[in-house]
Amino acid sequence: MSSKRKGIKKIGVFTSGGDSPGMNAAVRAVTRAALSHKLEVYGIRRGYQGMIEGDFVRLRSHDVSHIMNLGGTFLQTARSAEFRTEEGRAKAYQNLKEFSIDAVVVIGGDGSFRGALDFTQEYDIPFVGIPGTIDNDMYGTDYTIGFDTALNTVVEAVDKIKDTANSHGRIFFVEVMGREAGLLALKAGIATGSEVIFIPEIKSEEKELEKFLNKGFKNKKHSGIVMVAEGDTAGGAFKIAEKVQTEHPEIEVRVSILGHMQRGGSPSAVDRIAATQMGVAAVEALLEDQKSVMVGLKNDIIVLVPLLKVVKMNRTIDDNLLNIQKVINSV
Ligand code: F6P
Repeated sequence: MSSKRKGIKKIGVFTSGGDSPGMNAAVRAVTRAALSHKLEVYGIRRGYQGMIEGDFVRLRSHDVSHIMNLGGTFLQTARSAEFRTEEGRAKAYQNLKEFSIDAVVVIGGDGSFRGALDFTQEYDIPFVGIPGTIDNDMYGTDYTIGFDTALNTVVEAVDKIKDTANSHGRIFFVEVMGREAGLLALKAGIATGSEVIFIPEIKSEEKELEKFLNKGFKNKKHSGIVMVAEGDTAGGAFKIAEKVQTEHPEIEVRVSILGHMQRGGSPSAVDRIAATQMGVAAVEALLEDQKSVMVGLKNDIIVLVPLLKVVKMNRTIDDNLLNIQKVINSV
């Protein structure tokens, strides 16, 4: 570890945007790593909104005991419209100054990092980001905290849906989260043997669905799962199911929207470990004079990616994953 950045004595940490399982583990890691460097730590409650309102709480080692296994975020989270205004950010700065906080770790997704960028372009307090979202859709990192837990939640739910789908000979359209990103749907689809997967990044899945309905379903299968990411361009699970029902009245169709259950639950070991790796790395990055970067994981190695790049670029879907899904369902 290199020498400590002069001037950093107190850091703030907060969670922002949609919560994800493992955020508590990340706050714990940031807190403990900072304390190990003799820094003082303040948790900022309710994301940027709490920063604007001065809702700060001192975090000591025991304050983050027994939280690693808990879902949600004990600091709570918010999407703050006020922070998108200059006045809001000015209030936030005043509060950080009042508490003598000289560096901040933000745990969240794209929108949270955009807020950090706006703030650091106006004020001289460094921010480092940790990616936390169940969507795993961020540029520059293979992994975002919460994805593995959410994936396992979806797989467990769909396995149960498959039992009843099979018993009744029905096709279920299962909608999972992913307003702009389909990786959760894609991986959950592969892990549950879904017949067709609809994701926002791919446009032509309706043809695949027709193939399944006209060949696969009639000839060999008597039930099926169609996995749909909520942001899919075909309009979501209800709309696709309705169309199928109209065109194939002989098929029994049902829809299941998994919803926010995907965001909750005790984090998996994968999420706890990633959160801990990233939390420690975020504090080290601040101490090494980094600012406006996100801590990411690439091939299990910590990387630092400029926030500007993270918010400007899109993560692409691996063609290989799309192909294996097609191979498996082609026979
Ligand atoms: O960004 C994560 C995410 O879970 C998306 O997949 C989803 O569309 C969104 O959050 C929903 O968030 P909320 O209901 O909290 O607005």
